[in-house]
Amino acid sequence: MPHAPNELTILGIETSCDETAAAIVRGCPPGPGIILSNVVHQQIEDHQPYGGVVPEIAARAHVELLDSIIARALSDADIELSEIDGFAATAGPGLIGGVMVGLLSAKALALSMGKSLLAINHLEAHALTTRLVEGTEFPFLLLLISGGHCQLMAASGVGKYHLYGATIDDAVGEAFDKVAKLIGLGYPGGPAVERAASEGNSRRFNFPRPMLGREGMDFSFSGLKTAVRQLASEYQNDAATIEPKLAADFAASFQAAVVDVLVDRSRVAMKKFRADFGRSRPDLDFVVAGGVASNQSIAAALQSLAEGEGFRLSVPPPALCTDNGAMVAWAGLERLSLDLTDSLESPPRARWPLEADNTVS
Ligand code: KG4
Ligand code: ZN
Repeated sequence: MPHAPNELTILGIETSCDETAAAIVRGCPPGPGIILSNVVHQQIEDHQPYGGVVPEIAARAHVELLDSIIARALSDADIELSEIDGFAATAGPGLIGGVMVGLLSAKALALSMGKSLLAINHLEAHALTTRLVEGTEFPFLLLLISGGHCQLMAASGVGKYHLYGATIDDAVGEAFDKVAKLIGLGYPGGPAVERAASEGNSRRFNFPRPMLGREGMDFSFSGLKTAVRQLASEYQNDAATIEPKLAADFAASFQAAVVDVLVDRSRVAMKKFRADFGRSRPDLDFVVAGGVASNQSIAAALQSLAEGEGFRLSVPPPALCTDNGAMVAWAGLERLSLDLTDSLESPPRARWPLEADNTVS
């Protein structure tokens, strides 16, 4: 396939949780880029019996599936391995067994093809997806809401993230997953809670809104989760399960509390971001990323907040909010175009905060 000389073609691998994914992306920064293929296998059946992700099962499934997923990404894109300029994989943070599987594959491909390795921070992959989709310029305000993270940051360049606030306990996606389990909606939790909430009464239960109105931009979700647990156990006293109407009201009331907290904390961050960057950049961008950003009620509430505060909201399409290989490939593309390549000794990391200086590898 012919393409412009400054464009790069990157293969991205994602195996840090329960998605086995590979994708091929082409373009140049600041984007938008072209997704030539994007293959995602969600290991739902493997984990469903356990009501959540089992790390050892996830790692084994990645080993079994990854080669064929990479082969499909190449054939869907209709390109040869030799046309790939660099091989990117999530190197952390995440479940270490899975991260090792993806990173090792990328290393083997980079070594055998004589091309660059890009060891990608999974959070940076979520953060930069907006540039893949619509070429958002730096700096932008970022709300990263996923299964493992909940943070507000100013993103001022590749590898340059300034933390405004973060959760002091549970991540927001984790709260969705735990609440789903408590009210009998099972795994995967977030989409199930959103579906149930659309049928429920969000005013039936007045759940706490932790941190609402507080100074700063931190979050907390464990008190909200505990409140749901206590009330659910009262209702479960005589019944083994929570009936669907009740579960829907729980889901809607919980989701409304989450929405209020996310809007409140984001409003404070918008004021801070405007003070920090408003002079240099009249167009203020507010980017929401991570699996929870695929929640339509959350996106709608943040859209009206953004309008009121004079920000332009950018949320990737749902399939690019949840884990995928295209976001990893794009982050690799951004880093390769800055010559930020990684050595074949790069370690897999269970923890890897984004606000550390990620321009040095
Ligand atoms: O980004 P992601 O795919 O993986 C991590 O990096 O953690 O995010 C997964 C999280 C899970 O906790 C999942 O329940 C949540 O995102 N999630 C949702 C929705 N879809 C996924 N939460 C709320 N509403 C959704 N529609
Ligand atoms: Zn993720």
